[in-house]
Amino acid sequence: MSNSNKNPGTSTSSTCHPEPSENTEELWGLVDKHLLHYGRDFVREFISHASGSYLYTSENRAIIDFSSGQMCATLGHNHPAILGAMRRAEESVIHLDSTMLSPSIAHLGKELCDLLPEQLSKVLFLNTGAESNEAAIRLAKLYTGKFEVIALTGSWHGTTSGAASNTYAHGRKGYGPSMPGAMAIPAPNCYRCPIAQCKSTCNLACLDFSFDYLESVSVGSIAAVLVEPIQSAGGIIVPPDGYLKKLRKWCDEHSILLIFDEAQTGLGRVGANFAFEIEQVVPDILSLSKTLGAGVPLAATVTSPQIAETTCDKGFSHYTSHASDPLTVEVGLAVVRTLVADELAARAGEMGQYIMSGLRELQKCHEAIGDIRGRGLLIGVEIVKDRETRTPDKERMTSVSERCFELGLNINRVGGPLSVWRIAPPLTISKAEIDLSLEIMDKAFDTA
Ligand SMILES: Cc1ncc(COP(=O)(O)O)c(C=O)c1O
Repeated sequence: MSNSNKNPGTSTSSTCHPEPSENTEELWGLVDKHLLHYGRDFVREFISHASGSYLYTSENRAIIDFSSGQMCATLGHNHPAILGAMRRAEESVIHLDSTMLSPSIAHLGKELCDLLPEQLSKVLFLNTGAESNEAAIRLAKLYTGKFEVIALTGSWHGTTSGAASNTYAHGRKGYGPSMPGAMAIPAPNCYRCPIAQCKSTCNLACLDFSFDYLESVSVGSIAAVLVEPIQSAGGIIVPPDGYLKKLRKWCDEHSILLIFDEAQTGLGRVGANFAFEIEQVVPDILSLSKTLGAGVPLAATVTSPQIAETTCDKGFSHYTSHASDPLTVEVGLAVVRTLVADELAARAGEMGQYIMSGLRELQKCHEAIGDIRGRGLLIGVEIVKDRETRTPDKERMTSVSERCFELGLNINRVGGPLSVWRIAPPLTISKAEIDLSLEIMDKAFDTA
């Protein structure tokens, strides 16, 4: 284990390395001069290639990727099935007029819907998570004729205007008004209960509060509630038992559509094909993205024939340049087929438990690990100053993460006020890679 862990031999890539003669200092000069800063600072090591669970720096330093890129590469980096699909598209067709279809889209439509309940059988293929949420919101507004949209505090649905209006994790300040009708209710964070009295004895009081609150603030035009079945950017918040069922019931009673944003939870990550299966709550509209293309920009908005038909009659329009594009669709088909053939959802469940038990061992030695939560291979580790006060400790989270990176492990940190590690490795990660990652974390806590 350690940063001396040079290429462990898992790389299958030999053609994509930078020229050995390339001067990385000069390259960083170009980056600083020409790239627009869009968030956290760039990691100051170039990643020259990646394979499976590993990233390789231009110095050929191997780093286990505990975040699957930006929580997308569920099959691992540069999986042969994805490369094969890209090659097939290269040899046939990459892009088309949005009214023209390649044969693969028929297969993907069917094979994706085969994984879903019967009522979710109409799909629109797009590119990003924000886009699929925009489509979901537009469908809901057109279908219901209403305009208010409810999301949860701590949610992240994307940075386009409709999605951003319903994003509350962070990044809201400074951009002027959000969409009329966008409103938030408190996230059901059991470690930091928004209704302090119900701490440790959850009776879904936050949801009862939300219903009363909405009754008061809504102008009577709620089109939809938009929810991540497990909130990711908000700190890996798993709703308490019964929360989503109760929300579903309330939506039905008020003729409000329920939209699940399964950008991160869909396609196997949580130990089931979709998080809604675990909760046994079916949404009216399902938004899929990140994990559907597994590293390639493919997203999907899925709904019922009834919503599809009504909105079509009302002239639903959601034209984008890359809707139904053959390249991304071909990759999506490979992803869905690999997910099913390799039983990756079950694998995520098994590996998730393996990581969880390793993390609980670490928690015994490191006071800073306040809470560990999640499902399957979507796991949150909350770093606190002490377990009594549960005060978030951003500084410690950052220093330990940076030390992990030096030692060969990439861990994603959520933004916003909380100090939570977001652990989301490829579903193909091995036990040996998990063991090595846990060893690195242990050492990083001791030496950061
Ligand atoms: C739950 C969720 N929805 C939507 C998005 C936005 O997706 P994209 O960045 O592809 O627009 C994200 C991105 O992190 C996400 O986590």
